[in-house]
Amino acid sequence: MDLLDQIVLRHPLPWGDVLDAGTGASSWGWLLKQTCRSRTGITAEEARAQALRERPGMGPQDEVLVGLWQDPLLLQGRRFDVILADYLFGACDRYAPHFQEEMIERVLSKCSGWLFLIGLEPQPAPNTPAQSCLFEVAQLRDAVQLLLGNRPHRELPQAWIERHIEARGARIAWKERYQNLYDADWVAREVASLEQNLELFQDRGLAQVLRRRCHALRQRAAEYLKSAASYSFDYLLGVDCSSAQRGLQ
Ligand SMILES: C[S@@+](CC[C@H](N)C(=O)[O-])C[C@H]1O[C@@H](n2cnc3c(N)ncnc32)[C@H](O)[C@@H]1O
Repeated sequence: MDLLDQIVLRHPLPWGDVLDAGTGASSWGWLLKQTCRSRTGITAEEARAQALRERPGMGPQDEVLVGLWQDPLLLQGRRFDVILADYLFGACDRYAPHFQEEMIERVLSKCSGWLFLIGLEPQPAPNTPAQSCLFEVAQLRDAVQLLLGNRPHRELPQAWIERHIEARGARIAWKERYQNLYDADWVAREVASLEQNLELFQDRGLAQVLRRRCHALRQRAAEYLKSAASYSFDYLLGVDCSSAQRGLQ
């Protein structure tokens, strides 16, 4: 079952005005199937917004906006009954390095009811050959992003997120963890997208060296990840924002 479906089990539909605070194909597609008064999606990327606006199921009360959480005028004067933050905070560094604390404050300030937050716990040091392979795939993916001049994602620990939410007076009403499983097919997909990024390198020699590394990672995955291995986890928090409002107004 999708993590987002878990939320509806605890907070049955219909929902009121809903904000998808870091929208994308998965969360927006899911939201369009739920009964809500209105849906608003925020993304930093114009191309992503355009693709999402073309999804079937959009009503006149639904909109996908391009904006940045660091803009103090974003969603000025608006509040939402439900906010989804689906892998938003781990992506923050790409657009606003070290802005995660302020982003938590701004997202909470837009919420009059519930914030549902999904995040990926940063990978711990690997303990097995399977985990070492997964760790190196993530390292290589991030290294390639850096070499292309982009900032990679920076995932945040659940404990860090909880501490900063509670410091702003919101209450974490419930929380769940879901172990992540990865197999050789997952590595093959991740390495294939990494290899596409290598096509963008101007230094062809460096790209060639890194392609050999990709090949080696695929071989190790075929050996150690024939059956899926568990590594790190996703967390899902249900945050009651009604208590935070007095502090944020
Ligand atoms: C990893 S994606 C989220 C995944 C998405 N929920 C999905 O279903 O695919 C992160 C989203 O948050 C947005 N985002 C990250 N940092 C942002 C910022 N500082 N301001 C506005 N949007 C931001 C990105 O543009 C993107 O739409």
